[in-house]
Amino acid sequence: MDDARHRLSEGASNRKVPFHSPVVASLDGEGGVAQRVMILRAFDAEKWQLRFHTDARSPKVDQFDSSDAVSVLFYDKDAKIQIRVAGRAVVERDSPEADAAWNDSTTFARRCYMAEAGPSSTSQSPTSGLPAPIEGVNPSEADVAPARVNFAILRIVITKLDWLHLANEGHRRALLTFEEESREPSGQWIVP
Ligand SMILES: Cc1cc2nc3c(=O)[nH]c(=O)nc-3n(C[C@H](O)[C@H](O)[C@H](O)COP(=O)(O)O)c2cc1C
Repeated sequence: MDDARHRLSEGASNRKVPFHSPVVASLDGEGGVAQRVMILRAFDAEKWQLRFHTDARSPKVDQFDSSDAVSVLFYDKDAKIQIRVAGRAVVERDSPEADAAWNDSTTFARRCYMAEAGPSSTSQSPTSGLPAPIEGVNPSEADVAPARVNFAILRIVITKLDWLHLANEGHRRALLTFEEESREPSGQWIVP
């Protein structure tokens, strides 16, 4: 439990560690699963919640609006540790936390949300989707302000966490489950 807590905290704060860029999976609404790499922005170690940032117009947001089932996969090759999280996805476009996340982002990061058409829109030619004057430029606060409507946070409330450590002398695996109200974890060892 302590190792999982430590690795998720470090994943959110240290962009150099593999836990900074996990794979987030949703139900695609067509009977399949959709996965994508996302940057872990925050981990609340009391509530066992993860926070990601995304474009409110992206397909994944529609998917989470339809089904809140989510899985997140982390792997640190050097540490030989995999963490697989199951949880509930909550997308927030207008909330104090979404406002704070937007305000805390650099203008360069906020530039991504200035794309004129939403992610996955088709284009006649290769494109960033950004308005031409902004391409390759660090925009001003005034430039990025209208893009706030395109920004959302994805909060993941962890319901189950599967921790696996590979080792020659014997793999080890633990399963944490979380009390819905208190968020209190309980853990047990399981066979890898
Ligand atoms: C290293 C890396 C980091 C990424 N970080 C994010 C991110 O933080 N948020 C996000 O929405 N997409 C991020 N993406 C893009 C997604 O992987 C994905 O292509 C995009 O969000 C569209 O996903 P969707 O069509 O399932 O909505 C990242 C991609 C890479 C390769």
